[in-house]
Amino acid sequence: PPEQPARGLRLVITAGPTREAIDPVRYLSNHSSGRMGYALAAAGVALGAEVTLISGPVALATPAGATRVDVESASEMLAAAEAHADGADIFIGCAAVADYRAASAAEHKLKKGDDDAGMTLRLVRNPDIIATIAARADRPFIIGFAAETQDVERYARDKLARKRLDMVAANDVSQPGLGFGSENNAALLLWQHGDEVDQCHLPPQPKADLAEAILRQALTCLTPTTPE
Ligand code: C5P
Repeated sequence: PPEQPARGLRLVITAGPTREAIDPVRYLSNHSSGRMGYALAAAGVALGAEVTLISGPVALATPAGATRVDVESASEMLAAAEAHADGADIFIGCAAVADYRAASAAEHKLKKGDDDAGMTLRLVRNPDIIATIAARADRPFIIGFAAETQDVERYARDKLARKRLDMVAANDVSQPGLGFGSENNAALLLWQHGDEVDQCHLPPQPKADLAEAILRQALTCLTPTTPE
């Protein structure tokens, strides 16, 4: 039988972009394809975990064996994350959550003026989903993602500490052929090891392989082997 080191574990993953309504026909969003989160869900199922995939709007098929919960806005994603994080063993925040939403979504379609004047849209901050889960007393092992264009290690260490995460997978999104929308990705993986931060480089590889490598490292952190 295939080796299933995550058997019996509950894994909750947020994936894809969020969509923040401006009015009934318009929204704010970003370019996340959802591929990395979906690859993590598929890898989790393959390793034997019970997987809940909380997904923003993406054009991807649900990985076989995963339970998908569709959401649109960051507020909806937070509500789903809070509901499903109860009793979870691992929580992975892979979604590209919009940092801001319209202060109030208009009930009817906004009309342009008769002149060439611009318009001002007031934005307010969205909740930080992964930090909210991390602030819980009985929290799962928490893995965050960091997309950076410079000083990857410094920003990743900062994110690990500031959001109180257990592990961060950081990638340099300025590298051609990696990250957003592409099939391949590379990551610098950092994790809390007592008071220290351990790290390893995961070289460019298909997102499916990278997802499995990240999960295997997390499982090692969850079940530390006793030294001989
Ligand atoms: O702060 P930044 O967006 O760079 O952090 C990225 C990490 O935080 C990702 O794991 C992302 O899913 C998570 N995040 C979140 N809620 C937000 C913003 C980011 O869960 N509002």
